[in-house]
Amino acid sequence: MKNPMIDLIMDRRSIRAFTSQAVEEEKLHWIVECGQYAPTSRNKQNWHFTVITRPEMIAEINRLTLEGMDRLGLKKEPDFHVFYHAPAVVILSSALEGFSELNCGCAMENMAIAAKALGLDTCIVGQTRFMYHQANAVDINRMLKIPEGFEHDAALCIGYRDGENPEPKPRREGAIDFIR
Ligand SMILES: Cc1cc2nc3c(=O)[nH]c(=O)nc-3n(C[C@H](O)[C@H](O)[C@H](O)COP(=O)(O)O)c2cc1C
Repeated sequence: MKNPMIDLIMDRRSIRAFTSQAVEEEKLHWIVECGQYAPTSRNKQNWHFTVITRPEMIAEINRLTLEGMDRLGLKKEPDFHVFYHAPAVVILSSALEGFSELNCGCAMENMAIAAKALGLDTCIVGQTRFMYHQANAVDINRMLKIPEGFEHDAALCIGYRDGENPEPKPRREGAIDFIR
């Protein structure tokens, strides 16, 4: 079926190579605005978006995440960057209450599709959770302006893709049933 919205959804991929081109502030604004317009259980809107474009902060989150991964004995490539050198990152956090992760999932996909509509690409990054395993008890929530009572869920890295849009990964068969 030909439809611009369906095309965007079908063309979105997790992108793991970005150019250094900065993401325009206005585009970032609309991406998080679209995140906020996702549905939430009982309209709680119990989430928090930290939009980061400061290169030193992105580098610090990467450093802390790699440190946490090291401490947990998780394997990674020597030149691994948790955000694949994307120039913009949204740290999504939520209050620890019912459906908050599902709410964040809705916001994430809204942001990913909005980014795609604006000519950008994204990757959802759950590995940032490992930064809480870093050694030196850095006050990460304060550093990332995560409010009291909220916990980081996952990040979205955003940028201009370096290279082609990959072919879609095959979707698992048998995951859909219709009852007619
Ligand atoms: C909750 C969640 C966490 C993810 N965490 C990571 C991650 O830490 N690093 C990464 O490269 N991709 C991550 N991904 C991307 C998935 O690997 C990707 O969506 C999946 O392989 C399907 O590929 P596609 O998004 O291109 O369709 C994550 C996706 C989701 C939904």
